[in-house]
This record gives sequence, structure tokens and C-alpha cells, in this order.
Amino acid sequence: MSDQLTIRRPDDWHLHLRDGAMLQGVLPETTRHFARAIIMPNLVPPVVTLADARAYHGRIMAALPPGAEFEPLMTLYLTENTDPGDVAAAHASGLVKAVKLYPAGATTNSASGVSNLDAVRPVLERMAEIGLPLCVHGEVTDPSVDIFDREAVFIDRVLDPLRRAVPGLRVVMEHITTADGVEYARSGGDDLGATITTHHLMINRNHMLVGGIRPHYYCLPVVKRARHQRALRAAATSGEARFFLGTDSAPHNDPAKESACGCAGVFSATNTMSCLAYVFEEEGALERLEAFASLNGPAFYGLPPNEARITMTRGQPVDYPAKIETGAGPVTVFDPGHPLLWAVSDAPV
Ligand code: DOR
Ligand code: ZN
Repeated sequence: MSDQLTIRRPDDWHLHLRDGAMLQGVLPETTRHFARAIIMPNLVPPVVTLADARAYHGRIMAALPPGAEFEPLMTLYLTENTDPGDVAAAHASGLVKAVKLYPAGATTNSASGVSNLDAVRPVLERMAEIGLPLCVHGEVTDPSVDIFDREAVFIDRVLDPLRRAVPGLRVVMEHITTADGVEYARSGGDDLGATITTHHLMINRNHMLVGGIRPHYYCLPVVKRARHQRALRAAATSGEARFFLGTDSAPHNDPAKESACGCAGVFSATNTMSCLAYVFEEEGALERLEAFASLNGPAFYGLPPNEARITMTRGQPVDYPAKIETGAGPVTVFDPGHPLLWAVSDAPV
């Protein structure tokens, strides 16, 4: 087996960068390896309009480490007041690559999300016309639905009816966590994609809950049973074009995570590529890592793959920090629970 792997530079199709001191602290962790990322709009207040997206894009560019080559792909946060005209202008500007649907109350900073899908129908119809993808946080918020079932119920109650109601709408099922998500993604044509996070490939709910509760493994959608993890691994390593990497790397400082009511989010930007190489090697699919991390995402979004390459080398355990220090406090890096042997040995600055 070769101990070197050269692939096109990867992109992250679902990333939280936050703002201010946190943005400044976490951005280098992504730009070190990734060329582009779809930037989530769940700031406080959220990124709702083209003007908001332009301003946020400017703040990200201003925070780039010297020499970094990185393109933030902006998104708009869909609300019941979103103007279809503004969405079309955002698409035409080239700056905004997707609109994000958060069911109201589903996750961090989702209070301005959508409760009534009929209210956003004109926006969705315009998006279908112009080919702008909708990125979907796929969980129902109905309190009577068990948190481990919220993705599967969302598919039946919300996603499938929505896709039937707005034919032609390009949809990304964000961070799928279940075999049901994998199966539904496979039922679609090339108008349906799905991102999978690094951590959902690495851990299941036993890792989070057995032998003590591990708050740094808590995220939304929450990690599920091992059989779902196996389905996600099979999907990610299949090479199928509909599945691509979205880390959902979502920094919260340690006090916010290590709390009686801790925030949801796993911060994996720092060691994602090493984790992925571990998973793909274990699945005997290293030759398909490039499809998942570097080819399938751009193809779905109609963008060219990156020309630059990174080289990964298998050797001594990779040295990466357990935490990064930011001006907004320490942020714990995702702990895969064992050494990682694949390092990114060579990447453009
Ligand atoms: O774990 C998560 N963290 N899931 C989300 O959907 C949001 C994210 C965040 O913004 O912290
Ligand atoms: Zn997210």
C-alpha cells in the first residue's frame, strides 16, 4: 500500500466561521488545507440579505492569514421575510452560492428560521428557476418527536413534500446522520446532494455517552447508532457524486461546551483531512477520498475543481493541538480517540 496520496485541494461544503475574534481564531484552521467553503449564515443577527452577505464576506477576507488563498462561498439565511428579488440579485452577483433553510428552533441561532414553508414558496420557486441550491438542516422541531428520529421524520414530513411542491429545486441535505438520509439522497436525481461531516464518520452515540458524557461530541443533528454510522461511511466512501464533504466544523468556546446546558457543535477544521484519510483507509477506499473531498462538491455546485493539489503522507502520529486559542476563548479540536497517521505534508499556503 502506498504511503502517499496526492489529491486536488479539498473544499468544505458546510462550515461555521462565526465573526469577530472567533472568526480570526478559527479561519487559519480551514485555510491551511481548504480552498473554498460554503459559509453558514447563522450569525447573530443572521446573514439574511445580499448586503449582509457582502459585509460578512468582507470581514472574512479581512481576517485571512497572510498569503492564504481561500474563497468563502456565501449563503443567505432563509426567513419568512426573505425577498425573492434579493435572492435572485444575490445569485446574479456570484457571491452567494446557496440559501440555507433552518427550521425555526432546530439548532444554534435558528430562531429566525422558517416555521411555515408556504411563506417561503415564492423564494423557493425563484431559486428553482435560477438554479440556486437550497441547503437544508433536516430535522423537525416537533417536541413530540424523539431527537434521534428527527431527521427521518423530517424527510417524510417536510423534505419530500417540499421537493415535490417545487420541482427542479436543487437541494443539499446537510450533514446527514442516518441510513434513512443516505437512502433518501440516493432516491433523487442530480438535483439532490448530501453532505456528510467528518465526525459523523468517526463516532456514533456510544462514543458520546458511554463511560461519561462527552460534550465535545455533542452536535446537531446528534450522532446516532453505529448502524447509521456504517451507512454514512459506505455512502461517503462509495464515490457516488451525490455525497460530498461538509465538515459542519462549528466552534464554540470550551465554557460554552463544558456546561450544564452545552452548545451543539464539533470543531474539526484542524484535523479533518487526517480523520478522513483514516476513515477512507479503514474502509479500503483511499482512492475515493478525492471524489468525496475535492470533486463531488464542486460538480454539484457547478464549479470547477481546484487546480492546486495537496499531498498526504502516512507516517508517525500527526501532531495537532488539542485546543486552539482564540480571542473568544479556547476551542477544543475534535478528538478522534486514537492517533491519526495521515498528515497533510504538502499544501499551498
Ligand atoms: O452542531 C451544530 N452546530 N449543528 C448545527 O446545526 C449548528 C451548529 C452551530 O452553529 O453551532
Ligand atoms: Zn452547521
